[in-house]
Amino acid sequence: MCGIVGYIGEADVKEILLKGLEKLEYRGYDSAGIAVLNDEGVVVFKEKGRIADLRDVVDEEVDAKLGIGHTRWATHGVPNQLNAHPHQSTTQRFTLVHNGVIENYHLMKKAYLSNVEMASDTDTEVIVQLIEKFSQDGLSTIDALRKTLHLIHGSYALALLDKEDPNTIYVAKNKSPLLVGLGEGFNVVASDAMAMLQVTEQYVELHDQEIVIVHKDSVEIQKLDGSIVERPAYKAELDMSDIEKGTYPHYMLKEMDEQPAVIRKIIQAYQNEQDELTIDANILDALHHADRLYIIAAGTSYHAGLIGKQYFEKIAGIPVEVHISSEFGYNMPLLSAKPLFLFITQSGETADSRQVLVKIKEQGYPTITMTNVPGSTLSREADHTLLLHAGPEIAVASTKAYVAQVAVLMVTASAYAQAQGKTLDFDVVKELGIAANAVQTIVDSKEEMEEIATEFLATTRNAFFIGRNVDFYVSLEGALKLKEISYIQAEGFAGGELKHGTIALIEDGTPIFALATQQAVSLNIRGNVKEVVARGANPCIIAMEGLEEEGDRFVLPKVHELFSPLVAVVPLQLISYYAALHRECDVDKPRNLAKSVTVE
Ligand code: F6R
Repeated sequence: MCGIVGYIGEADVKEILLKGLEKLEYRGYDSAGIAVLNDEGVVVFKEKGRIADLRDVVDEEVDAKLGIGHTRWATHGVPNQLNAHPHQSTTQRFTLVHNGVIENYHLMKKAYLSNVEMASDTDTEVIVQLIEKFSQDGLSTIDALRKTLHLIHGSYALALLDKEDPNTIYVAKNKSPLLVGLGEGFNVVASDAMAMLQVTEQYVELHDQEIVIVHKDSVEIQKLDGSIVERPAYKAELDMSDIEKGTYPHYMLKEMDEQPAVIRKIIQAYQNEQDELTIDANILDALHHADRLYIIAAGTSYHAGLIGKQYFEKIAGIPVEVHISSEFGYNMPLLSAKPLFLFITQSGETADSRQVLVKIKEQGYPTITMTNVPGSTLSREADHTLLLHAGPEIAVASTKAYVAQVAVLMVTASAYAQAQGKTLDFDVVKELGIAANAVQTIVDSKEEMEEIATEFLATTRNAFFIGRNVDFYVSLEGALKLKEISYIQAEGFAGGELKHGTIALIEDGTPIFALATQQAVSLNIRGNVKEVVARGANPCIIAMEGLEEEGDRFVLPKVHELFSPLVAVVPLQLISYYAALHRECDVDKPRNLAKSVTVE
């Protein structure tokens, strides 16, 4: 999704901005641009496509020490050069980059800008034209910005240049993430610390409805009413090597390979000195006082939430509802008397989940965020945080974060059960260790996964994934992985449900991936496979050791049944990866998708 960078200092700004934008590429975008300001004025370069395309149009000769940059993921107006950011006001005095969505931009246009000819179809241009209008009415730049922010409704992270003031970047934020980074003799702006880690590790977080005046040697945070805010900087705990691909051809492959290490890291992170798994006592307390847990999430994180429901209900005895965040906020179910909310979000920035968090906080209910990004918006705003410890996930398709979510859900449910005095019939640390080893065996079987991808998915238009019990939830995740990176239409189904309609789609050779990891429903899923095979389907059965039968395509190393989602998802991730490679798809940056979905 959209990204912002900005720099003011002594170095050549073009390269810093372009490198910063490259670090944000993983978030997904369709056009990019930079604007630099020197004594002669502002120069804007923007282009549809990749940062490499932008580099081709940037004039090396332009020398400037101050500038802003943007990667755009289209919301208002098609992805083209005209709609790419930065946008300028009619006189070109003001230049702006913006993340987010301005909900009342039509109204603003009608009320204040009826005689202004717009150069783009974007809501962003309305912001910069409003600033110019109010400045022409006699307001200073900061007051024109402030007045504009009072009028617009919606989400924004923005950085503004004023041609008349070559010593300042104006910054503002509401709902969309934005940070200011501090350096010696320079300062930076970034929607994600990763973008500017090349120049500084020190960041100041911004809160909603704050404005920042950034000079090269000072940073002043103000509230919208002009009052000054003091906030200390923090060190971004990110290792550059974590965010480099190394020798891997794709981040997705690297991240799948990291999964055994992620499981082991989670064991370490949640183990106390007696080697027992524990979680924050405040979270245990919150769970203890709740009569129902509401898990709120989107996409892959929602699929992890479905597994979490099994864990909390079966291990901890807490009733759970799992909801898609974009639905929950606008169609809230009747809540129990003492609800507790658990937001699962890899990025901690997903706007759909955040809108629920905001509403739930207004109602005064307790909240937990499970996230991979300490200091992310949902982490800061919830009462408690459970960290995933997966390390930065750069590929758009989530793999190691999903495995981390399932593992941390298991840790949380079992730590709570044990804190309540329940004796578990399995040793969580031991079973997680076995699962980590099993995942290692699978990621070491890449050739076999590639063969399966070739055999089943080389030419197909569609594919189905089926499973029962937790295998059903893993099937949903397997189908999502395949469709998002290979563009093969794929659907996950409960094994028994296919015959209630969807079986009509089965043709000669339609690939069916069936998971068989659960003893209690092992015969049932095999019955479901027979139903589709009788109609011509080409089955790829992935069974747990001990439940395998002749003809199964892959046997998963044995793990405890409750831990099977950690393991069963891995072949599906790898098969999707190879299917996408064969189709020459951009595995790490699939079309139309964004890593961190910061608009509703
Ligand atoms: C799919 C994927 C998405 C995300 C979803 C929620 O591979 O990554 O479905 O899971 O956009 O994102 P987070 O977890 O950051 O809230």
